[in-house]
Amino acid sequence: MNTIKAIYPGTFDPLTNGHLDLIARGAKIVDHLVVAILRNSEKGTPLFTVPERAEMIREATADLGNVSVATFDGLLVDFARAEGAKAVLRGIRAISDYEYEFQMAMMNRKLNPEIETLFMMPAEKYTYVSSRLIKGVFRLGGDVGELVPPLVMERLKAKGTAAE
Ligand code: PNS
Repeated sequence: MNTIKAIYPGTFDPLTNGHLDLIARGAKIVDHLVVAILRNSEKGTPLFTVPERAEMIREATADLGNVSVATFDGLLVDFARAEGAKAVLRGIRAISDYEYEFQMAMMNRKLNPEIETLFMMPAEKYTYVSSRLIKGVFRLGGDVGELVPPLVMERLKAKGTAAE
């Protein structure tokens, strides 16, 4: 049988309900979904370590039997090939995401034409949610409780980054 394994890559600093929504949607479509955390992100100093992020994703996806969590560095297509994955899953929240995602998908296709990029849309209620905004709003004391899984909320509080 032709089983489809896909990689859902990202920095996940931290996991949001938008990510989780996409993971659940992706897991219904493919046989196995690997949520892959980029180890050497160029996005600056992360709030959570890679092991912390992996643990949060594992806990939040524990009820999804065909989802696993991994970490990678280097090229995404090389990781996908090593995993035996045929596809990369990415979320598109709004048109503004499209240009960057299109460029990445085309570059990945150039690097390895065997790997397809699949785009899915998260639920409308999460279209404005990003890890960057979550961290920024939380730091300033804003309530992000409905936008991240409860276990992420606990970890955010434990980091003590909320405004005094
Ligand atoms: O969480 P993000 O920033 O949306 O994830 C971006 C990610 C990790 C998917 C992207 O930066 C990536 O794939 N990096 C690995 C390096 C790589 O393969 N670069 C070539 C693709 S343009």
